[in-house]
Amino acid sequence: MGQHVNMAKQKIFTCNECGASHTKWSGQCDACNAWNSIVEDKPLGTGPAKKSLGGMRGKRVALTDLATQEAPPARTLAGVGELDRVLGGGLVQASALLVGGDPGIGKSTLLLQAAARFARNGLKVIYISGEESASQIQMRARRLGLTESPVKLASETNLRDILTTLEAEKPDLAIIDSIQTMWADNVDSAPGSVSQVRSSAHELTTFAKSHAMSVIMVGHVTKDGSIAGPRVVEHMVDTVLYFEGERGHQFRILRSVKNRFGPADEIGVFEMTGKGLAEVKNPSALFLSDRGKPAPGSVVFAGIEGTRPVLTEIQALVAPSPHSQSKRSVVGLDSGRLGMILAVLESRCGVPFNGLDVYLNVAGGMRINDPGADLAVAAALVSAREDAPLPHDAVVFGEISLSGALRPVVQTENRLKEAQKLGFTSAITPQQTKKVAVAGLTLRPMQDLATFVVEIFGDRGPEK
Ligand code: TYD
Ligand code: MG
Repeated sequence: MGQHVNMAKQKIFTCNECGASHTKWSGQCDACNAWNSIVEDKPLGTGPAKKSLGGMRGKRVALTDLATQEAPPARTLAGVGELDRVLGGGLVQASALLVGGDPGIGKSTLLLQAAARFARNGLKVIYISGEESASQIQMRARRLGLTESPVKLASETNLRDILTTLEAEKPDLAIIDSIQTMWADNVDSAPGSVSQVRSSAHELTTFAKSHAMSVIMVGHVTKDGSIAGPRVVEHMVDTVLYFEGERGHQFRILRSVKNRFGPADEIGVFEMTGKGLAEVKNPSALFLSDRGKPAPGSVVFAGIEGTRPVLTEIQALVAPSPHSQSKRSVVGLDSGRLGMILAVLESRCGVPFNGLDVYLNVAGGMRINDPGADLAVAAALVSAREDAPLPHDAVVFGEISLSGALRPVVQTENRLKEAQKLGFTSAITPQQTKKVAVAGLTLRPMQDLATFVVEIFGDRGPEK
């Protein structure tokens, strides 16, 4: 049999979704379960090995040596509260950021506006687009009212040329829009492939660190797997932000999913207007703005997003299922969590949902990660099933455990204060919740989920 395995010819396959390597092609990536995302990838350029420089060049220090500890990183504020908070208190010098999001969501708009703000606050900023010509960016800048801003614009995709320009210009901040359009000539594969995207991101990040420059890279979230997605560079950067929003809704949420220099899971809320993105300083008011009369299935959840309280309306619809397998549809919440809550309602509270289709939605297109939403979800489900509205002036929060017990959640006081600020007069909470007095707000603590169902909806649950 063939003894000669030709290593040079061995192919490498990479998942465009998560960047995992595979030895052979397959239809589904077993690392992230994405379909049709695996492509053949060329290995990085394999030139002759360079000679060692005689050891590591960075100096070695003792862990205990306090004198070498660095001062806190220098930061620059954009002066846009929603952006600065998500960054963890402004832009850190020499940091690398990734801003991901669906095409068309407003990443270029956000970053052009941010570029102008940072430039106004003293940073030398260059905005490099691989997707639009400089005159197209100028047109956008005119629409945004930013023509006076000292930001430099360039249209370029060749990484070598970009690095040469950055070397000469010495900006404090470079914005690369988008990383998928960048092209490194030493990498033998097409722009947008995993190796190109990774290699470009790596070179830009390394350059940034060694030149005290910050770099913000835009990454389109890709749907079809033919282009590498932003996830393949997440591990290389200090901060990963995602820009989210629903089609048909004006507002956008900038969310930090990783931040070496601040809290993760922080959100900034913006509204897309005719003149670009505007800050939304009071998101609760926005999310509750089109709340109508008391309706069955509608519950106001007092949640925490990052460090800030946000009230949202959770809506449930429950209807007899015409099919043998009933439907569960969730928008804005984790579907696994819905399954868990339905199971607890059925087995601990005697409120079954079999034979019923269940639709669950967070109004306004918000996405909730806070486990404190459990009780609000359960309340919406039972309220929809019983066709009985909750008290209109009440907010709800609490985590549900598998036993049906209610667990207290973090930042009770902030949640209650936000509820009071928006005119609510009562809060349904877990029993163990810290007793904080907020003027004008009555607490209705509940021992467990079964007690909650009986107290709010009477005994009608089990019979139906
Ligand atoms: P864009 O920033 O180009 O999205 P991305 O870079 O994420 O692909 O935003 C595109 C959308 O935003 C486009 O549909 C037009 C809209 N838009 C406004 O509504 N107002 C504005 O002032 C601007 C500049 C864009
Ligand atoms: Mg764009």
